[in-house]
Amino acid sequence: MIFTVAIDGPAAAGKGTISKAVAAHFGFGHLDTGVLYRAVGAKGGDPIAAARTLEPEDLNRADLRTLDAGQAASRVAAIPEVRAALVAFQRDFARREGGAVLDGRDIGTVICPNADVKLFVTATAEVRANRRHAELGGDYDLVLREVIERDMRDAGRADAPMRVADDAIVLDTSDLSIEEAVEQAIRVVAARKA
Ligand code: CDP
Repeated sequence: MIFTVAIDGPAAAGKGTISKAVAAHFGFGHLDTGVLYRAVGAKGGDPIAAARTLEPEDLNRADLRTLDAGQAASRVAAIPEVRAALVAFQRDFARREGGAVLDGRDIGTVICPNADVKLFVTATAEVRANRRHAELGGDYDLVLREVIERDMRDAGRADAPMRVADDAIVLDTSDLSIEEAVEQAIRVVAARKA
C-alpha cells in the first residue's frame, strides 16, 4: 500500500509532533524533511556539495535543533541546487510500501503534489515562539524574532516557497492542545484512507 501524507507549515507550528503521532497511529514511516536542510546547513562548506553528499550520520548530529541550525537551514534551503539534490530521496520515501508522512514546507506543493492527504499546520507567531521557547529555553524575544525571520525567508524565496497547497486542509493549532491537534489530524487522514 502506497499512501502519502504531506504536512507543511511555518516554524515550530507542531508539524513534527503531529507527523510523528499520525505516523505511529497508522503504522506509516515518518520523514522530517527539515532535518535534511538542517544537516546541510550544519555541515558547513559548500552547501550544494553538502546536499549532494549527505549521509545518514549527518542526520544524527546532536546540534541540529538549535536556533542557529534553524537559521542556517533556511539560508541553504533557498538555494535551488540544494533543494534539487534532496528531491529524489524525499519522493522515494513518500512512495515507500506501507505509507509515509513527510513534514516540511513544500511537501504538498512541490515534493508530493499528488499526496493523498495534505495538511498545513499553523499557529500565530507568538504561540509558535512560546512552544519553541519551551523546547529550547533562552530569550523569548530572540526566539520570536528568529521564528518570524525564518518564516519570511521561507515564504519569500523564489524556489519552492512555503505556501498552502490549493487542496490542503489548514489546521490552526493556536488554541488547540497538542492532543487536540493530533486528534484532528488523525481524523482527517482516517477520512481519506477509508
Ligand atoms: O522545526 P521547524 O519547523 O522549526 O523547522 P524545520 O522543519 O526543521 O525546517 C528548518 C528549515 O528548513 C526551514 O526554516 C526551511 O527553511 C527549511 N525547509 C525547507 O525549506 N523545506 C522543507 N521541506 C523543510 C524544511
